[in-house]
Amino acid sequence: MPLIAPSILAADFSKLGEEVRKVSEAGADFIHIDVMDGIFVPNITIGPSMVKSLRSYSQLPFISHLMITHPENHMKAFAEAGSDIIEVHIEAAQKHVLESIKGIQKLGKKAGLAVNPPTPIEGVFPYLEEIDLLLVMSVNPGFGGQSFMPEVLPKIGKAKDEMERIGRRVPVEIDGGINLETGELAARAGADILAAGTSIFKAPDMKRAIAALRELDSKD
Ligand code: DX5
Ligand code: ZN
Repeated sequence: MPLIAPSILAADFSKLGEEVRKVSEAGADFIHIDVMDGIFVPNITIGPSMVKSLRSYSQLPFISHLMITHPENHMKAFAEAGSDIIEVHIEAAQKHVLESIKGIQKLGKKAGLAVNPPTPIEGVFPYLEEIDLLLVMSVNPGFGGQSFMPEVLPKIGKAKDEMERIGRRVPVEIDGGINLETGELAARAGADILAAGTSIFKAPDMKRAIAALRELDSKD
């Protein structure tokens, strides 16, 4: 059964604390926080001060998904703000991927590595020994409410095969356009964590939406 990480990008920003509390009470496993800088992606969202303000509204682990350039300059602020898992993009960290992963872990947090749809999954293989989580993007990041890109699905199997080969199992999160239909495809392809914004926050009943996503069949 996949774990569920609601993305608060689709929540009502005028009452974000309340939204985080509500979605936590509705049975989420994580809170997925989309951080965008207007440079790495064409949109600006949340900074560390917002993460800090939200911290008291939920006991769940916070995943800060950093869609920003030079993530190595900001991870300390996101760690101190109360993030439990910090995800950096392989495309943003460029030459500093290992440094960023180690830096996050030195701060006592879990390090995730995210990979955009056009980036070959083989690029993350050298880091599988180090990372705590792999994030496979199923949309080009920047905005919520986009359509799922099914062509990224084989990346999950490829990553899992490589994990098997090296004898290290890293949870795989998938993010972008996840609903009951696409979530099922992702879970069957081996995704362990489903990040979903629109399909949870815009659902008439968040509790039901989360429960339905969690009950999707996974491979194992
Ligand atoms: C995309 C973000 C995603 C996205 C999820 O840039 O990283 O987390 O907002 O939202 P939905 O589920 O609406 O695609
Ligand atoms: Zn995200």
